Amino acid sequence: MRDMRPEDVRGEWREYHWTYFDGTTRRLLVTDVETRFPTGELIVSQTDAAGLITMCNEAFVHMSGFSRSEMLGAPHSILRHPDMPKAAFADLWNTVVMGRRWSGYVKNLRRDGGYYWVYATVIPKIVDGLVVGHTSVRREPSRDKVEELIDVYATMCAEEGLT
Ligand SMILES: Cc1cc2nc3c(=O)[nH]c(=O)nc-3n(C[C@H](O)[C@H](O)[C@H](O)COP(=O)(O)O)c2cc1C
Repeated sequence: MRDMRPEDVRGEWREYHWTYFDGTTRRLLVTDVETRFPTGELIVSQTDAAGLITMCNEAFVHMSGFSRSEMLGAPHSILRHPDMPKAAFADLWNTVVMGRRWSGYVKNLRRDGGYYWVYATVIPKIVDGLVVGHTSVRREPSRDKVEELIDVYATMCAEEGLT
């Protein structure tokens, strides 16, 4: 994934040199600018068996700030925010790999360094007993739950940083 560039970022940013699960790295420029989830909309995307994005709807393009062509063929970790604990994604992958659906609250990173919270449901697509792709549908999150999880996720990230 391409490093984030200051000219693409809106607002004052903090810099991270992030290492993903597969060992690849990316420069992240992160701001405190929130984009609220548009009431009544759904953000939808699909992946292939390798976890690469094969379809995304207009709400996804709008909320993430990425163009459709930047998104297609990319992994969802293009949206990975450093405030999200690793344990949340481990739980997601451990669940869908068994063919079960996963739901949870996710803070996502926008192309411009800002963020947006979603309540996501990831549904594996199973053909002949094999997971051949996934669909993810994100709804407007409960604000009370988001407020609660800001501290919970911060504690989890701090603990992960110590291990
Ligand atoms: C269908 C599907 C949708 C996903 N959506 C997101 C997402 O919106 N934001 C996100 O950070 N990770 C999402 N993930 C998890 C990423 O694949 C990845 O595990 C996560 O961003 C953490 O990156 P890492 O595993 O490379 O550390 C999704 C995974 C799947 C299978």
